[in-house]
Amino acid sequence: MIRIFAILAGLFFAAGLAWSFLLGASSYISEPPAKTAVEEYHQHPKELQLASDGAFGRFDNEQLQRGFQVYKEVCSNCHSLRYLAFRDLKDLGYNDDEVKAIAAQWSTKQPTFDPKTGDKGERPNVPADHFPLVYYAGQGTPPDLSLITKARHGGPAYVYSLLTGYQDQPAELLKRFPDAKVPEGLHYNPYFASLAIAMPPPLTADGQVSYGDGTKATRDQMAKDVAAFLVWTAEPSLEKRRQLGWAVLGFLIFATVLTYMAYQNVWAGKKGNH
Ligand code: HEC
Repeated sequence: MIRIFAILAGLFFAAGLAWSFLLGASSYISEPPAKTAVEEYHQHPKELQLASDGAFGRFDNEQLQRGFQVYKEVCSNCHSLRYLAFRDLKDLGYNDDEVKAIAAQWSTKQPTFDPKTGDKGERPNVPADHFPLVYYAGQGTPPDLSLITKARHGGPAYVYSLLTGYQDQPAELLKRFPDAKVPEGLHYNPYFASLAIAMPPPLTADGQVSYGDGTKATRDQMAKDVAAFLVWTAEPSLEKRRQLGWAVLGFLIFATVLTYMAYQNVWAGKKGNH
């Protein structure tokens, strides 16, 4: 008897579940949920090819130096690079004296603190220092850029797209989503997750920096170069890691062949002779 009751109760609940599922599904089909402005207008990063891509990729030091120049002259006014030391720049092909000069002339100084007197002060940077933190008084919080290409989906392609993606907010968007109007002080950018970014367009004109190697400093080129530079800041040892990987793979293949040959040798007299 109790078993029949249990079956009936189970059936009752199963029917209720099925009914509410059908109800939900039919209303989803008859009145699909309205899309938001972000769902309609957010764009995936553009294609970007860099010399460091792929398992055999190598850094293009000339491009990294140009990217560093863009960081130094433009981005460093707002963004820090706290995980990088000035001496790391030697990897890009700068010599000791050049690195010393870059550190000494860096516009943000190193903060100092004297524990005896409690005095806080500043001193010029030296090669062993990390890049100093930057104070930004404007709207929004500029993130540290050291690891940004690892922290964002799309990495360098995202940075490149973001820098070249500023535009006027489409009239059609405003018509369909009047609430999505970019607030005062923010800027429309379809590559940014919320479409409205606090960063004012940093690269505004061709020739904003003058490259020493003769490359034309178009906005597109500057954006690519600084994106390539930020791949390096996020993983300066990328090339060494890959080279080590290939060496290890080569050794493993060699060891496998050697083991197989040893096996053949050890069993040579035994096989087929018993
Ligand atoms: C005038 C100051 C300023 C300058 C110059 C500037 N930025 Fe920004 N940046 C910001 C601010 C503020 C934010 C935070 C935006 C936000 O969260 O809405 C930001 C955010 C970013 C982000 C993160 C976006 C995200 O997904 O969170 C990246 C990447 C970035 N900037 C790259 C750069 C690069 C590269 C340069 C140099 C070419 C540069 N910025 C120059 C102020 C600046």
